[in-house]
Amino acid sequence: MQFIRFSDLCAQGKAKGQRVFIRADLNVPQDDAGHITEDTRIRASIPAIQMALDAGAAVMVTSHLGRPTEGEFKPEDSLTPVAARMGQLMNRNIRVVANWVDGDFSVAPGEVVLLENCRLNVGEKKNKPELAAKLGKLCDIFVHDAFGTAHRAEGTTYGIAETAPIACAGPLLAAEMDAIGKALAAPKRPLVAIVAGSKVSTKLTILQSLAKNVDGLIVGGGIANTFMLAAGLKIGKSLAEPDLLGEATAVIAAMKARGAEVPIPEDVVCAKAFAADAEATVKAATEVADDDLILDIGPKTAAKLAEKLKQAGTIVWNGPVGVFEFAAFENGTKVIAQAIAESSAFSIAGGGDTLAAIAKYGIEKDVGYISTGGGAFLEVLEGKTLPAFEVLARRAA
Ligand code: 3PG
Ligand code: MG
Repeated sequence: MQFIRFSDLCAQGKAKGQRVFIRADLNVPQDDAGHITEDTRIRASIPAIQMALDAGAAVMVTSHLGRPTEGEFKPEDSLTPVAARMGQLMNRNIRVVANWVDGDFSVAPGEVVLLENCRLNVGEKKNKPELAAKLGKLCDIFVHDAFGTAHRAEGTTYGIAETAPIACAGPLLAAEMDAIGKALAAPKRPLVAIVAGSKVSTKLTILQSLAKNVDGLIVGGGIANTFMLAAGLKIGKSLAEPDLLGEATAVIAAMKARGAEVPIPEDVVCAKAFAADAEATVKAATEVADDDLILDIGPKTAAKLAEKLKQAGTIVWNGPVGVFEFAAFENGTKVIAQAIAESSAFSIAGGGDTLAAIAKYGIEKDVGYISTGGGAFLEVLEGKTLPAFEVLARRAA
């Protein structure tokens, strides 16, 4: 995919003295008192900001925080706590600018200001042309660095990319684009995907899209239960969507027709209740009782899948294969995580639960690329072209 890289502009001296507008994704979780509970996205956004400062630009950064009502400022929607954390991390004071759309503020070369929650601006969500026109006038260079929001076509993620004199990808967005291209467009084979989670329905388009591309599709969680049903196995009281059996069967058939496979678990870990202290029993997949709940893949299945992952050329991981939050049902996810860590394959992982599993098993450094996008990562897996990628490609042409 063609796009202009901000790093190239900086290296060519083209950002010096310029007004640079960076759209970051600083949408971090906060507790009830407004304290930031997890700051990965702030940390991930700093390289672009530092790059712009080092290049001698006057730097404006904005992001959405939550889903506020446009035109109605409430203190809890403010980016002030984000500015404070970013200031600590960058060891500088970061001013927050409110009511900034008409450009009634100053920012000097070598300075960075945080423009208040962009979703407070009227017209942001629907990308109204009047807003987009104003946004484009605020800068000389627009830098899209918000992968987490790359699936949204809003004023600061899309409109400004059309109206700014130059629109380019920041280092975080560029890294995401590169990793996605490496994993899905030109993968080293075999390409193995792990798609797990509670429902087939929420990931059906992902399963269908991947079924056309991957060599192995490992399913887990409630999704695997529906696939077990499709394979004629009994799953007791386990979470499943029987009305999607036809779709699951079609995915299996599509994979088979290409000489690829969806491995169905041969053993599972069952319990009589969904609880951390429930007794865990390993059973053959053919022996699940009517009152059983399947809460993890069994050790034989985990070992076989681990073997496949170790032999893979590329691995795409979205979703834990069992209830890894409960010690008795974490083995499958742990074994998969360790196999990904040990594999020489290029691996890309994303999604909230997946990131939690990666952190729990401490394999951050052994995953090729960890995506900062939740919904955006899922849409990429669905085979969609994200609006951010589309508009930046068009502006590079
Ligand atoms: C996210 O948290 O997934 C992104 O910041 C996008 O937020 P949104 O779903 O409110 O657009
Ligand atoms: Mg969200």
